[in-house]
Amino acid sequence: MRTAICQIRGLAPASAAWHIRVMTIDYDSITKTIAALTEGETDAVALMATVVCELHHADDRFDWTGFYRVTGPEMLKIGPYQGGHGCLTIPFARGVCGATARTGEVQLVDDVDTFPGHIACASSTRSEIVLPVRNRAGEIIAVLDIDSDRPGAFTQQDADHLARILSEIFGRV
Ligand code: SME
Repeated sequence: MRTAICQIRGLAPASAAWHIRVMTIDYDSITKTIAALTEGETDAVALMATVVCELHHADDRFDWTGFYRVTGPEMLKIGPYQGGHGCLTIPFARGVCGATARTGEVQLVDDVDTFPGHIACASSTRSEIVLPVRNRAGEIIAVLDIDSDRPGAFTQQDADHLARILSEIFGRV
């Protein structure tokens, strides 16, 4: 796990220092861990639960991490997730998740207030990234949604690494 250490000064006598550890995901390591944990598994929900658990606890930016599954025509339903409760149903026509399922494109949203139709499951969410999840046949079977309480939390690098993990794991379903 790669960590950065920040010192906050001025909150305590000069002899004391407060340390806050900020955890940032190590994609190489998490990719190997997820591959090892899911070796031979092809059940989509079992894979989603494992991916979500590993990702959510690997980075302090990730305040809500979860999958929405395609369960019917133009319809997403909540899948495995970690964080506060998520909306149960999202039509393709709505929200960042809907836009991802509709277009098949990654949505990197720096400020959720500027995204038309954003669905606020938690009022604390400031930014989010949503990626399509494709099976071996190339069909979109779900989206992965990661929300942060920090503005502009996600980068193209996150998108690239996460897309690689999703394609490795769900390409076998
Ligand atoms: N913000 C998402 C909805 C899902 S929740 O935030 C967990 C969206 O706009 O699609």
